Amino acid sequence: MTWSERQRAMLREMGIPAFWPVPPDAPVEDAPVAASAVADVISPARPAMPSASAEAVAPPPSARPARPEAKPPVSLAAAATAGIEAILRERPEGIDQMDWPTLRQAVSGCTACGLCESRQQTVFGVGHEHASVMIIGEAPGEQEDRQGEPFVGRAGQLLDRMLSPVGLTRSEAEASRQVFIANVLKCRPPGNRNPLPAEVAQCEPYLMRQIALVKPHVIIAMGRFAAQSLLKTSEPIGRLRGRLHEVQGTPVVVTYHPAYLLRNPVDKGLVWDDLCRVRELLLA
Ligand code: URA
Repeated sequence: MTWSERQRAMLREMGIPAFWPVPPDAPVEDAPVAASAVADVISPARPAMPSASAEAVAPPPSARPARPEAKPPVSLAAAATAGIEAILRERPEGIDQMDWPTLRQAVSGCTACGLCESRQQTVFGVGHEHASVMIIGEAPGEQEDRQGEPFVGRAGQLLDRMLSPVGLTRSEAEASRQVFIANVLKCRPPGNRNPLPAEVAQCEPYLMRQIALVKPHVIIAMGRFAAQSLLKTSEPIGRLRGRLHEVQGTPVVVTYHPAYLLRNPVDKGLVWDDLCRVRELLLA
């Protein structure tokens, strides 16, 4: 589906740049948000977009079923059943005191779990070291493992398109616009399997130190796995979304993972709501 000229005009009128532009060769599930979801996009409870001048009625919460994300939760028992065992070794000392260069070096040489054996390289994170917004995803995938940068595959391209309408970017810019992007895990789980709890535990101090160094105004947890790991909960993402959480005294907004949106584009409207919430928090 493509945007009609009328829909484009409506978005332009609201000050929202072309939302999720679709390259001509994009696969069907990467289509822009469905017209029916435009009402989500223009929720009257989210007036924060610049020069917003139109309102539409958002569907009641009951009309928005919470969709489970594709991967089931990982438990140690399930991992053991699948024949996967975490291999754990010592982690560097004093991560919570490290500066950026020391932390980078510690991550790149980390052998604290078995993922170091299958990775091509660690994926530390990228962006402004004092970014107002920090984005946290799950773990590097194949492309990220190859390139050493988070969110560079198809999900990453969608992430870039999601950030732009709310004035955020991964490109070089001032701290209020350029985000910092990191993952819960710094190494790719082989075959993109779910991270094991023990691997998450080994990697956690690195992420905690990154948050402490960036000191963002807002953290966006992308997807069920990042949200549950960061917030130390097993609540489903449908219940974590729409509420404000906190890590290290920083507000955390939970939203769907772009890879999930590639499979469920109808939920892009919900993510738009979440990003508008981020914007409100930045302006508060
Ligand atoms: N998915 C993530 O959560 N992180 C990445 O870096 C890539 C895909």
